[in-house]
Amino acid sequence: MLEVKQIKKAFGDCVANADVSFSVKKGTIHAIVGENGAGKSTIMKIVYGLYRPDAGEVRFDGKPVNIRTPHDAIGLGIGMVHQHFMLVDTMTVAENIILGAETGSAISLDLDEARERVRSLSAELKLNVDPDALIEDLSVGAQQRVELLKALFRNANFLILDEPTAVLTPQEVAEFFAILRRMKSQGKTIVIITHKLEEVLAISDKVTVMRDGTVVGTVETATTNSAELARMIVGRDVLLRVEKGEANPADVILEVAGLRIERKHGPPVEDVSFTVRSGEIVGIAGVEGNGQTELIECLAGLIRPNAGSIRFSGRDITNANAREVKELGIGHIPEDRLKRGLLKNSDLAENSILGTHYKPPIAAAGFIDSAAVAARVSGIIERFDVRPTDPSLAARSLSGGNQQKLIIGREFELEPKLLLVSQPTRGVDIGAIEFIHRKLVELRDRGAAVLLVSAELEEVTALADRLLVIRDGKIVGEVDPRTATIEEIGLLMTGG
Ligand SMILES: Nc1ncnc2c1ncn2[C@@H]1O[C@H](COP(=O)(O)OP(=O)(O)O)[C@@H](O)[C@H]1O
Ligand SMILES: [Mg+2]
Repeated sequence: MLEVKQIKKAFGDCVANADVSFSVKKGTIHAIVGENGAGKSTIMKIVYGLYRPDAGEVRFDGKPVNIRTPHDAIGLGIGMVHQHFMLVDTMTVAENIILGAETGSAISLDLDEARERVRSLSAELKLNVDPDALIEDLSVGAQQRVELLKALFRNANFLILDEPTAVLTPQEVAEFFAILRRMKSQGKTIVIITHKLEEVLAISDKVTVMRDGTVVGTVETATTNSAELARMIVGRDVLLRVEKGEANPADVILEVAGLRIERKHGPPVEDVSFTVRSGEIVGIAGVEGNGQTELIECLAGLIRPNAGSIRFSGRDITNANAREVKELGIGHIPEDRLKRGLLKNSDLAENSILGTHYKPPIAAAGFIDSAAVAARVSGIIERFDVRPTDPSLAARSLSGGNQQKLIIGREFELEPKLLLVSQPTRGVDIGAIEFIHRKLVELRDRGAAVLLVSAELEEVTALADRLLVIRDGKIVGEVDPRTATIEEIGLLMTGG
């Protein structure tokens, strides 16, 4: 159905696609994997007419095609759902679907007709989208289904999905995959860009691996496995399992008792009591939105509890603020690195001193010591393998994995006694995941306590020495991560 041949595309000095060739068969689900920056989005944006290639050929449905704009692509029945949604929050689903501003061609249909069509498309694929709902009232998962509907409304039978699952909860991913399978059974062709290997193995028929702007290979999903894919992606053997010895837990350093935190959405965090010892990693598994975010933010001094107590090293820190908490030796790697972890528009140097910018060695007598900042940032870049290595780059220009390494490096530089860490590898590529996992285990082995929240069950069971499960704001169980099965933990998480 689609064939790209020797496509080249550079942005200035940056070669995004050096030589990309592969083909996608009609009626299949074709995955494209590769680390951040491998050139995946670029090649598919070329197919969708958002970029013009510098060289190479695109063939569609057996014929060479010249796709100059998304309008041309849509004319051929090609649709694309982007990593970042392009919906207008204050308008309804049907209004958004009619708009389709990106093509520049308003579809002349009256709203009633459009609502009917949205309703029937939604019913046909069990998308569960109400044409009259306002976008701002929809969950992220539902907004994504609206984006899908937008493409289907334009009669797309070849759909390009750029990292569609990055923003979804595990349940939403399962529902989303069921929708993709229904679309495939209707004869549609789907290209899905992702960097989650379990997803590739679960959903695709074939998978193309890209690295550094080229295609490393295209393989049948049924004949490959995650170790082989990981090797192709990174270009070397990758440890998918976390290598760690037995923990040597020492004294209790964190003691949480009867904690209660009211929440805007959902039941409060309630009756939460647990301890963490120095030298151990305690994991908290749970479906996102069950109170783990608020719990960690409360321990980090960002929000106050409504009842209960928090003791750290024998000292009451229940009402301590973020700076006081940090001063005591508690590090925090927040789940939303762009909102809470970094100043996107500031450079790496400034980001490397956030939270310690007011005191020695960074500041003295009210002045920031630029030599100390330079030493701090270059130390982090080197020890935490942050790329590119230029301290004057804005944080936003780094890939997710490198942003995360910068934040982790900054917190590790303070050698925390307790590290609070949420979703440490979300949206991070495989090589960086291995690195981050190793760093967390090393910190534990130096005697620090780690409290780890992750929605990735494999991650939390592999890293944690003890594992708590949170549901509806309450700790509903503790399991031994060495012996508990994923199914058992999943049942506790969902109450099924
Ligand atoms: N519009 C652009 N301008 C400049 N550089 C870009 C642009 N789009 C992508 N790049 C660069 O091209 C490379 C490949 O990017 P991309 O195709 O987005 O990778 P992927 O989707 O695999 O993460 C990256 O180094 C990226 O910074
Ligand atoms: Mg991309």
